[in-house]
Amino acid sequence: PVIRLEDYQPSPFVIERVELDVRLHPTTTRVTATLALKPNPKGRPDAPLVLDGDEVNLKGLSLDGRAIPAAEFEASAQGLTIAQPPRRPFTLTIETEIDPTANTQLMGLYRSSGNYCTQCEAEGFRRITYFLDRPDVMAVYTTRIEADRDEAPVLLGNGNPVEAGNIAGTNRHYAVWHDPHPKPAYLFALVGGRLGKVGKDFTTMSGRKVKLAVYVEPGKEERAAYALDALERSMRWDERVFGREYDLDEFNIVAVSDFNMGAMENKGLNIFNDKYVLASPETATDMDYANIEAIIAHEYFHNWSGNRVTCRDWFQLCLKEGLTVFRDQEFSSDERSRPVHRIAEVKTLRARQFSEDASPLAHPVRPTQYREINNFYTATVYEKGAEIVRMLKTIIGEADFRRGMDLYFDRCDGTAATVEDFLQAFSEVTGRDLSHFSHWYAQAGTPRVTIKGTYDEAAQTYRLDFTQATPATPGQPNKEPMAIPVALGLVAQDGRPLATSSDRVNAQGVFILDKASDSLTFTNVPSHPVPSVFRGFSAPVKTSLDLSNTELLVLLRHDSDAFNRWQAAQTVAMRLLVALSTGAAVTDADITGLSAALEMFIEDDAMRDPAFAALVLTLPSEADIAQEIAADVDPDAIHKARTELKRRIGSANIGQLWEFHQLLADLGPYSPDAASAGRRALRNVALDLIAGADKRLGERLAREQFDTAGNMTDRLASLSVLTTLPGAAREGALTQFSERYRDEPLVLDKWFALQATILEEGTLERVKGLMNHPAFSINNPNRVRSLVGSFAMANQMQFNRADGAGYAFLAEIVLRADELNPQLAARLLTAFSAWRMMEETRRKHAQQTLQAIAEHPNLSRDVSDIVNRSLETK
Ligand code: ARG
Ligand code: ZN
Repeated sequence: PVIRLEDYQPSPFVIERVELDVRLHPTTTRVTATLALKPNPKGRPDAPLVLDGDEVNLKGLSLDGRAIPAAEFEASAQGLTIAQPPRRPFTLTIETEIDPTANTQLMGLYRSSGNYCTQCEAEGFRRITYFLDRPDVMAVYTTRIEADRDEAPVLLGNGNPVEAGNIAGTNRHYAVWHDPHPKPAYLFALVGGRLGKVGKDFTTMSGRKVKLAVYVEPGKEERAAYALDALERSMRWDERVFGREYDLDEFNIVAVSDFNMGAMENKGLNIFNDKYVLASPETATDMDYANIEAIIAHEYFHNWSGNRVTCRDWFQLCLKEGLTVFRDQEFSSDERSRPVHRIAEVKTLRARQFSEDASPLAHPVRPTQYREINNFYTATVYEKGAEIVRMLKTIIGEADFRRGMDLYFDRCDGTAATVEDFLQAFSEVTGRDLSHFSHWYAQAGTPRVTIKGTYDEAAQTYRLDFTQATPATPGQPNKEPMAIPVALGLVAQDGRPLATSSDRVNAQGVFILDKASDSLTFTNVPSHPVPSVFRGFSAPVKTSLDLSNTELLVLLRHDSDAFNRWQAAQTVAMRLLVALSTGAAVTDADITGLSAALEMFIEDDAMRDPAFAALVLTLPSEADIAQEIAADVDPDAIHKARTELKRRIGSANIGQLWEFHQLLADLGPYSPDAASAGRRALRNVALDLIAGADKRLGERLAREQFDTAGNMTDRLASLSVLTTLPGAAREGALTQFSERYRDEPLVLDKWFALQATILEEGTLERVKGLMNHPAFSINNPNRVRSLVGSFAMANQMQFNRADGAGYAFLAEIVLRADELNPQLAARLLTAFSAWRMMEETRRKHAQQTLQAIAEHPNLSRDVSDIVNRSLETK
């Protein structure tokens, strides 16, 4: 069945209080739920009570303490209906039995490495007990958890601890937790297990004392220190920047090894994929540290954007996710380097969201229909959702943005809100009509903005002509123009700043393009300038600009906006890569132009900001190039082109790159801070370019670095370079690495991923072999994503093999995984989303493979939804 936004109806009943008694047992966990229900004055008055359920076994049911006769209700594994419920407040007591060990979906209550944990977003609570499992039903929860003392010495719940003790004469104990903040069921959580912890006291800005703790597998406590530190910094930052304070006596984080997503913001009890908690210099890379910091912040920030103010229904998912991604991006930008972080965000957005927007799976940031909500935790909802909030801030300015946020939080506190409520707050504080802006939530597809500049020497004016168009997407053949903030400026050809102005550009340098076409004119322009548009990537659009490579390289050298300096180099490289990939004419001068500009950049700028330099010196990825070509893509040609351009740039600069590699060798003790990480990044980009130009030198330097590395960042980077060089050195290093880290699953994930992304024939066979490695398990999402996910999503050339073998392999794994964990299977299947832009042979193989999956019996709703949308013709 299709769920539609327009069909939203308030629930006929509300649940005010929930008392849960959970008796943990590996295979027969007993749950007693006592629900204080009452009719909802806003709901249909004569409606039956229909509770959601999923694979729960009903063991008892009573109303106001009296067993309900069998004739008066209907219960199945999918739901419980009482046709004639009382039309007054009443209490329903439901006893269910569930099997956490058999729960391989990792939704509801399940076991991970022997520990009990839960995941309830989006619809997992119904796998614990029958419930009104929708986010606009908000209740106050009291949870009693009981378990064997040996099996689960630690018992955690939402809210504040109120009571704990032993059960006399048994080996069991219990703990009671009470959460005073009304919340939807998706924010419920409990944990029981053997866990070690690191903790710290925190005092909020108004003086509330909070105990912070991070729980991990015993023995790994010191690896949780960075996460704890990131939590404390996040809490301070949210107080300082958004005025938001924490609201319970405890804040607990638990790391588990089997988890479908990154982490979950359960009230007062965040549960994390351990990959985003555990870090030590020996086992985690700089990227891991940055991800941990961002995700810890993200989940903490949900306490306001998501929990205190939650979503009315799942169509509003971006209300909490887009906003919270924006908040975590701002946090990371403040903690690290803002321009460097912005570039990283945009790289992710383009790789994941632009590609989604261009695929059969394209959907608006606020979808209007879904079959399976788990398939909408997408880059569009999260990343494009964050871009919308960023654009809003750009348009209304920093001060009004903060006033609007305050109004939104204060007004909607304790409610389940909508995107309209969010925009209303900003309309009110600014007096602006944001209805045109709201198209960003409703229209799918990436707008393309085409810009043409004309200089009038006699009049000393420079005119920019803009047009915009958004391509058709499934269900949306025709698009309206969008309200697009364009941050821009002019740069003189010789780099001098230009004091020009236009009455269409505000004091912050922003022009709003809100028509299909528009133009603006700068006056007092003394010489032909180079326009720098979409500074800081002020809108999630694609841009066509009629600038020559030479003009773009002026921006690389002189623009005051770091993002556009990076963008300029990328644009020139992309032009060359597309031409080389498609057999268009590329002159030697074209290539030397870029390589000379990079040479100048390396000499003058690289050491001033190594992190930024590392980004400038990294060519667009093979997938980026495919996206740019967009039709009849030949991944082999792209690989050849990129290898060739990399070789040319490396050879032209090999002396300087080698010098970087020596100069930037890390001597002191490892520190994950952004500046140190930036030096390592530049050093490792240099190594990669050297290896692309001179295999023997590259191999020698990489092997040396591999043997002497003092941290995982350098060790993994050198191993990654070695994997690009076939031969004994590579195989030897791979073996050494796996032996060294044989007991470190998260490190072996990196080893799986590296091998899955080797860009050469034979990788598929290697991946198939690794499926039998003792450390691999199809039940563990991290393992599957590292090996199979990396192959399908990060190895464009081998996944899209011309013989279709990559597709067939993925199909086989998707079908296997679907029987255990539909969410994981559906995620893997999205690797096919680019199939329509492949050249004909590959396209046919992909289509046949998708069709075969679609015809397979007993597909989960998750997989069947993705496969059917992937095949739909718009
Ligand atoms: N709310 C979580 C986060 O973004 C993600 C939960 C995703 N759950 C799911 N079933 N898809 O922080
Ligand atoms: Zn989130």
